Amino acid sequence: MKSVHTSVREQFSQHAEYYAQSSAHAQGDTLDVILEFADPKGMEQTLDIATGTGFTAFALAPKVSHVVATDLTPQMVSKASELAREQTIDNVTFTVAAAESLPFASASFDLVTCRLAPHHFQDVPKFLSEVHRILRTDGLFCLVDSVSPESEKLIAWQNRVEKLRDNSHVYGYPPSQWNKMITGSGFEIEGTAHTRNAQMSFLWWVRPQQNPPEVVQEIRDAFAQLHPDDAKKYYTVEPAGDDFYFSWPMYAVKAKRSTPAS
Ligand SMILES: C[S@@+](CC[C@H](N)C(=O)[O-])C[C@H]1O[C@@H](n2cnc3c(N)ncnc32)[C@H](O)[C@@H]1O
Repeated sequence: MKSVHTSVREQFSQHAEYYAQSSAHAQGDTLDVILEFADPKGMEQTLDIATGTGFTAFALAPKVSHVVATDLTPQMVSKASELAREQTIDNVTFTVAAAESLPFASASFDLVTCRLAPHHFQDVPKFLSEVHRILRTDGLFCLVDSVSPESEKLIAWQNRVEKLRDNSHVYGYPPSQWNKMITGSGFEIEGTAHTRNAQMSFLWWVRPQQNPPEVVQEIRDAFAQLHPDDAKKYYTVEPAGDDFYFSWPMYAVKAKRSTPAS
């Protein structure tokens, strides 16, 4: 069986151009909340994990001393460095690296960010233990990711639908599980926020160019089978002719490294 890292690289290597132009990733509540939680003072050595084409790293760059931007997919990293050159951003450097194995010395960063990516990670506890290792004592970790509602039924539903559409999806945890994993990894949670991404067209999101019609239909059927109250409350589903619009719930966490750096 293909490893998760291979699936991620296969998926994202095709989408570097698309991500670079995606307004959904370039801006929005998930970026605003991470900047608000990070609240940089100007001197921070910062690491942005799974940077994609660099939107979070570029938004932080003018507010901190230096950003190291990492990603598992080399094509994402080269697109991000091309964009940094074009935008003459000179305090961001790039490294290809897995979130679960960060090639940095212990206690070497003041701030770590990670936005819209851990649902693709093979091993979230390992990722959290790496973030803990490379942060200085009292360093800050700011995370935003898509999450499942706190319901066994909807956790299973959402992860099945996401995986059908994109095989590199691993798992969207509910917020309670994130809190447990983050505190269990030696962090103290200082703030949380619930938000969501912008409404998306189903026909755009489902990637009909990539997914065969029977898979698109299976996902459409799954949405149709949702209880109408769940569809409205958790996924903001709004019919629009042959299409419909919806969003995913997102969860943001600001956490301090609470145990001393070794
Ligand atoms: C939606 S994009 C990230 C968006 C970006 N953080 C931003 O703020 O615009 C998800 C990224 O996660 C990366 N990724 C997935 N699994 C990874 C892993 N285990 N380690 C590092 N990067 C990973 C993918 O290569 C992809 O570039």
